[in-house]
Amino acid sequence: MDHMGVPVITDDDIDRMPRGGPDASCLDRLLQTDRQEYLDRESDAPADVARKRSVIRALNWAGEVFGNHEKFAKIALDAVADVADPRILELGAGHGALSRMLLEWHPSARVTVTDIEPTSVAAIAAGDLGSHPRATVRHMDATALDAADGEFDLAVFALSFHHLPPSAAARVLAEGTRAAATLLIIDLPRPPAPLHLIRLAAMLPWAPFLPFVHDGVISPLRAYSPSALRALAAHADPAIRVELRGGLTSPQVLLARREAEVFA
Ligand SMILES: C[S@@+](CC[C@H](N)C(=O)[O-])C[C@H]1O[C@@H](n2cnc3c(N)ncnc32)[C@H](O)[C@@H]1O
Repeated sequence: MDHMGVPVITDDDIDRMPRGGPDASCLDRLLQTDRQEYLDRESDAPADVARKRSVIRALNWAGEVFGNHEKFAKIALDAVADVADPRILELGAGHGALSRMLLEWHPSARVTVTDIEPTSVAAIAAGDLGSHPRATVRHMDATALDAADGEFDLAVFALSFHHLPPSAAARVLAEGTRAAATLLIIDLPRPPAPLHLIRLAAMLPWAPFLPFVHDGVISPLRAYSPSALRALAAHADPAIRVELRGGLTSPQVLLARREAEVFA
């Protein structure tokens, strides 16, 4: 146990931890998959690249229509409200809409916009963010950040954490809290098992035809529960403190900081 009473899972066992956490019910353990979303496929085949771009465009569209870009930008700026000229790192930016909003809403924020997917990085760099005076667009893997300790005030990873298996997710927690004073993870909630079954039944028939629905069926099966998020943080480093909000009907919000920053 770490000193917050969360069991520390060993390296050998971490990838066997259920997405519902160490205490997941039997039904919840069945409602998970290792199947990849289109976004996770490393293939450069034109059909796969086209599907990935289609999912990213749909995510951007959904973020605009349902106001997620605005909600996430507000949560991110609240996290750096007491920093005069915040240096913000966006990981897994996909389309860059969150970074664009952060730059619009904060007159002196500097934003490093990154993703692991080269096509997404190229598309973002080719747009307005590529020439924005306070933006830098870069390729970056959230599990191995090319950044100095404490280089950023905030690192934000939105709607992306569930893409990673537990060992890689724990590395994001370790790396994000090393390179930034605060790591903000915003991700899908893990639905309660009975609700999840109903949702799956409604969406499954459309999954073979629409890439966005295909990925939308898989995502909640891979989403981490609050107890899983706490276990991942304890595994990453017992010095990491997490604060969890939201969930169920709204995205889960996790703020992580190293103990020294919490009590400084
Ligand atoms: C579902 S999209 C989310 C895009 C955007 N953040 C949003 O909120 O709409 C997930 C993104 O995470 C990126 N991603 C997956 N694994 C990653 C990793 N290890 N490091 C950085 N980005 C990653 C994918 O390339 C993709 O752009």
